Amino acid sequence: MTAQTRILELRAELDQHNYRYYVLDEPSVPDAEYDRLFRELQALEAEHPELVTPDSPTQRVGGAALSAFTQVRHEVPMLSLGNAFEENDLREFDRRVVEGLDLPTGDLFGAGVAVDYSCEPKLDGLAVSLLYRDGLLVQGATRGDGTTGEDISVNVRTIRNVPLKLQGKGWPAVLEVRGEVFMSKEGFERLNAAQAEIGGKTFANPRNAAAGSLRQLDSKITASRPLEFCCYGVGQVSEAIADTHIGTLEKLKGWGMPISRELRHAAGIKECLDYYRDIGERRNALPYEIDGVVFKVNSLASQRELGFRAREPRWAIAHKFPAMEELTEVLDVEFQVGRTGAVTPVARLKPVKVAGVTVANATLHNMDEVARLGVMIGDTVIIRRAGDVIPQVMQVVTERRPADARAVHIPTQCPVCGSQVERTQLVKRSKGKETVSEGAVYRCVGRLACRAQLKQAIIHYVSRRAMDIEGLGEKSVEQLVDEGLIASPADLYRLKFEDIVDLEGFAEVSSNKLLAAIADSKRPSLARFIYALGIPDVGEETAKVLARSLGSLQRVMVALPQVLTYLPDIGLEVAHEIHNFFEDEHNRSVIAQLLENGLQLQEEGELAAEFAASTTLAGLIAKLDIPSVGPTGAEKLVAKLQSLERIIAADGIDLRQALAAKQADAVREFFLVESNQALARSVEAQLREFGMHWESEKKVAQGLPLAGQTWVLTGSLERMSRDVAKDKLESLGAKVAGSVSAKTHCVVAGPGAGSKLAKATELGLRVLDEDAFVAFLSEQGIAV
Ligand code: IVH
Repeated sequence: MTAQTRILELRAELDQHNYRYYVLDEPSVPDAEYDRLFRELQALEAEHPELVTPDSPTQRVGGAALSAFTQVRHEVPMLSLGNAFEENDLREFDRRVVEGLDLPTGDLFGAGVAVDYSCEPKLDGLAVSLLYRDGLLVQGATRGDGTTGEDISVNVRTIRNVPLKLQGKGWPAVLEVRGEVFMSKEGFERLNAAQAEIGGKTFANPRNAAAGSLRQLDSKITASRPLEFCCYGVGQVSEAIADTHIGTLEKLKGWGMPISRELRHAAGIKECLDYYRDIGERRNALPYEIDGVVFKVNSLASQRELGFRAREPRWAIAHKFPAMEELTEVLDVEFQVGRTGAVTPVARLKPVKVAGVTVANATLHNMDEVARLGVMIGDTVIIRRAGDVIPQVMQVVTERRPADARAVHIPTQCPVCGSQVERTQLVKRSKGKETVSEGAVYRCVGRLACRAQLKQAIIHYVSRRAMDIEGLGEKSVEQLVDEGLIASPADLYRLKFEDIVDLEGFAEVSSNKLLAAIADSKRPSLARFIYALGIPDVGEETAKVLARSLGSLQRVMVALPQVLTYLPDIGLEVAHEIHNFFEDEHNRSVIAQLLENGLQLQEEGELAAEFAASTTLAGLIAKLDIPSVGPTGAEKLVAKLQSLERIIAADGIDLRQALAAKQADAVREFFLVESNQALARSVEAQLREFGMHWESEKKVAQGLPLAGQTWVLTGSLERMSRDVAKDKLESLGAKVAGSVSAKTHCVVAGPGAGSKLAKATELGLRVLDEDAFVAFLSEQGIAV
């Protein structure tokens, strides 16, 4: 086969995969296969530059930067749409359409004629025109003022789902496609995170990000941004395509053009309203942002009959959703103290309605965010409320900054307890050195002496997923703290009937109930207890890992940060948080009091076998981060020298027998530093003390009975909640997943189980009903 034939074959195949992926939403090959074909094409084209054509899928990389965009005149003007904000506006629009088309209106005996409308989401991006001549993309332009736009041909070519060449046949020789260029919510988040990482410009919303990415003189930047295109109509065409709007879009789809998956027919305005409500409910779950829906008269003949009024078609209207963004003023910035002492700036706003809800506060997260936004007290800001998330300050409108605007300063003392406020430190280890840098978070050092932290700590301690003490709501905790009845979680266990019965909302029965609930909570599992302590950055999962791996509170309390980093998903930063928490005198004394007050931890035991097996000497050496010594180097070193002491004592000659000269020197240099020797020795000593033996290196992890298995829970269980069932399975070492696949070991199906059960049966997996599950648990020694 000649290179030319193969190149054509590869392009056709890649185009087809693209079409399946972007237009039909039915990917046909794994990404890796696509990448392989793509690289093959790139390589062939590099060998034969004369065979490169502009429609090749490799040509989406952008070109030389421009100094300015040239202007493009739109043969058919790019118009805008009239807006409907309320149902009535939409009924008015429909009435005008019915009248304009001279259709019978509703009378006493009938509902009149239902106009055939098309419904599409109104994407929040930028309008773009794409010109195809003989099926090839020859020009891309912005809308501009509707008559003249800017030539962004090179930029649009970099958008993955814009066809460089139309497929199939029957397209008009001249075809101008119109649609929206936008950025998905996920793409926007990813871009902003990447920009923040490199200290670049972040964007207030996906629309701004799309605009900023598309109108780049350097198209290579556009190429690196996650832009997408969605077609919603045509401009100039050399011949008619179809009789209806939907018919037109469907033809375009067949030629490879991405159109909205939400495109629907509606018979009459009532169905339009149904569509609006339905998509409104799903708005937050859509992968892209929409600011409303667009209704268009479907028949193109009717569209022509209706024509235009000023710059808007009489046959289409945008039905807007309530805005998610509004402008308001920052009246003040206050500081809230959370459970871990984090002092968080909160903007007090002039109350404003955003998408139907009055917003008066917005979190500013931390001082880095305040600096990034450059927000000052008195500023006018754009705030945004999306879904259920807390309102966010997106951007400062600097032009509106008043002369008396005040800078935001972090208080030096805690606004609640007056203790010192300190900036957190971030510990990173690389190239054998631990570096400490400033974190974004400031903390009140008052710990449980700070009433704000104490209240939050107790609220967390008693919460359902922690110690699960029922009958103690936030208000009651506040009262108990404010009345001086409790000063730490340990004091809960000393509460007496007389202490609570007089509190607001408590009577005899509820006081007794609370005391019983407190008494009942005295036998938590180790994992629950660790979680309940509220160690910064330690959620339920991390608590489980700590409990399962180290087996006892004692070991968790003394574990060195380097030892903790052996555990799955614990990095050095979290390891330091855990270590610091248990180093703190006050925390240690609270834990001691809890145990004195009768708390008995359950499920304490030995060091987990998996953990013992993972703590190899080579692993320890690799963790020390000696420059240029990775896991392989560490293995070689251990194979040769066998023990830590011999490695520490080894001279250059010994080391060079195991390692390359550069690595050998690095090891020597590292262990010449006293503190490095001491660190390695203390980590080793602790691992030994925990019962770990270097001899266990080769041994395979024995683990728990369900170690390595994945279970799925579905349907409802009567004898226990799903959370409880999950805990029990996890205590046996199983992973509990949300969906069934061929890798699932067993499915527990209660009444009402649906598609997951069906899939399990189809795959021939082991399925247990609740009785069988309970029997299985009791075989494993777990009571229900
Ligand atoms: S139709 C003559 N359909 O909304 C009709 N526009 O204010 C031209 N837009 O500039 C537009 N989604 O950028 C149409 N499904 C959709 C749309 C849509 C978003 C934007 C478009 C246009 C603006 C109209």
